Amino acid sequence: MTIQITRGRFITLEGGEGAGKSTQAARLESRLRARGFEAVLTREPGGSPLAEQIRSAILSGAIAPLGPAAEAVMFSAARIDHLRHTIRPALDSGKWVICDRFSDSTRAYQGALGNLDPQFLRELERVTVGPTRPDLTIVIDVPAELGLARARARSAFADRFEAEGLAFHEALRNAFLDIAVDEPRRCAVVDGAGDADAVSDTIWRIVCERLVESPEPSPEKKAAP
Ligand code: TYD
Repeated sequence: MTIQITRGRFITLEGGEGAGKSTQAARLESRLRARGFEAVLTREPGGSPLAEQIRSAILSGAIAPLGPAAEAVMFSAARIDHLRHTIRPALDSGKWVICDRFSDSTRAYQGALGNLDPQFLRELERVTVGPTRPDLTIVIDVPAELGLARARARSAFADRFEAEGLAFHEALRNAFLDIAVDEPRRCAVVDGAGDADAVSDTIWRIVCERLVESPEPSPEKKAAP
């Protein structure tokens, strides 16, 4: 008898600081489990032992003087380890993976805000991610002032990116919205300004519509190399 393992689904949550991604990622994991799906909750940068070490180096600000290209390479190195040791094994064994940030964060933070050459970034993403592209990306959108206020309220210490000013965070918000406009089949924008219950209901509805009730991956996904 052949045991058929269906590849799990890969969902990423993206957005600026204080958008509520971590809360929503945990809620989505619980809802999937309640529905009987095996789910793995993970995050970037990090999600595997070596990637967590790289995370500490980046968020300490030690890499920042080398510029956005070097930061993009470091985030990508962490992503390669994370994909190899956490994400692909989980998907291959039929589990769902919910990842708090992924390659759209590199596109937005290092690419759009760091003014990196789009071709360099596309190639870096292709080499880093390969065929393991998200089935669904939820972009949680909040006004920059609200996101920053939330991020500052939760921690007295501002990390590398929280320390940037309002103009940076407004540009960041637009960079995520632009990604969603460019790839509407993969991405869904959710208003994150409301209360956490309402946001999690909206995310769950989108997951059900796009993944749970449809057995086939999106056409964009099928067309990917
Ligand atoms: P984290 O504490 O995980 O922040 P958040 O709760 O906002 O996700 O810190 C991760 C920081 O790293 C965050 O400011 C976004 C940034 N980042 C990038 O600049 N590029 C990337 O590719 C990733 C994954 C994160």
